[in-house]
Amino acid sequence: MLKEPEINEIVGRLFDEIEFTREPAGLYDPLRYMIEIGGKRIRPRLCLTAYSLFSDRIDEGILAPASALEVFHSFTLMHDDIMDRSPLRRGMPTVWKKWNEDTAILSGDVMLIDAYKRIAKAPGAVLNRTLELFSRTAAQVCDGQQYDMDFESVQEVPMEDYNKMIGLKTAVLLACSAEMGALIGGASEAECAALYNYGYGLGMAFQVADDYLDAFGDEKVFGKPIGGDIVNCKKSWLTVRTLEKTADKAAFLAAFALPADTPEQKAAKIAAVKEIYLQCGVDRDAKEEIVRFTDQALDSVSELGFSPLKLEVLRRFAERLVGRAK
Ligand code: IPE
Ligand code: IPE
Ligand code: MG
Ligand code: MG
Ligand code: MG
Repeated sequence: MLKEPEINEIVGRLFDEIEFTREPAGLYDPLRYMIEIGGKRIRPRLCLTAYSLFSDRIDEGILAPASALEVFHSFTLMHDDIMDRSPLRRGMPTVWKKWNEDTAILSGDVMLIDAYKRIAKAPGAVLNRTLELFSRTAAQVCDGQQYDMDFESVQEVPMEDYNKMIGLKTAVLLACSAEMGALIGGASEAECAALYNYGYGLGMAFQVADDYLDAFGDEKVFGKPIGGDIVNCKKSWLTVRTLEKTADKAAFLAAFALPADTPEQKAAKIAAVKEIYLQCGVDRDAKEEIVRFTDQALDSVSELGFSPLKLEVLRRFAERLVGRAK
């Protein structure tokens, strides 16, 4: 079984030798920029970790699909940053800010196509299933992104709807990453399904953590502007939970509806909303929710008859993800 440092090394080198097309530069420079500025590369790492439970053979049949997951993810971020008006990503200016929106749209499109080319290199025996899994997931991410946008103009979102939204925009891609690794590694249907559920639970925990860090993280580490969700009236986990438990809904809604056009207004709105989050203790609640989703992830793989060593690999991966500060 491949060890964690080996997987990290493989993922670190995943894009080293890849030559993206160069011309026209206006189309491909942003793509290269987005890949080169890095990121945590969680999805290919998860894919390779799941794969390593079943196979040790490292070749294009697994490396190309694993890299597709990262290219696809980076494409969603490039478009997400336009949708969320976000100026900063991975500690660097976002593509729409550095170039312009048209560039970010078209470069994003070509990244999606690039991702499909990589998926198409999955081994013939599992190619159809890999493509089906990936296409279903990619469409679901769009569904989730639309719900996320729709919720900006809704005053109150029930937790059930929030969970469905983040399940689609975030968790399904981690689920797909884990299942794809298992599938290409030669896992059984039951094992594939269990790893899908494992990735899904991790993805849910991951998005709640992202929402928490968006309000309470350190911008230098997180690499994204703190308070962006508040400025954009996003129904983050913190918002949804506050509306569930606050004794003074009107006060919270008033703070959440404050204008955020100028830098001063933005800072005032972020401070007012965060103060209510802290009063309600939803920062602590979020941490409990992250643990709950992580436990669910681990429960999904506990009945497969995996060796203690394999279970430990999955537990450690989950622990790393949940302990994140960026
Ligand atoms: C950001 O994903 C988008 C979410 C699903 C929260 P990551 O936190 O994995 O972003 P990078 O790739 O490490 O920058
Ligand atoms: C992003 O959610 C999910 C996808 C890109 C599909 P966010 O909008 O919370 O992600 P960040 O915080 O900008 O990375
Ligand atoms: Mg978004
Ligand atoms: Mg965003
Ligand atoms: Mg976020």
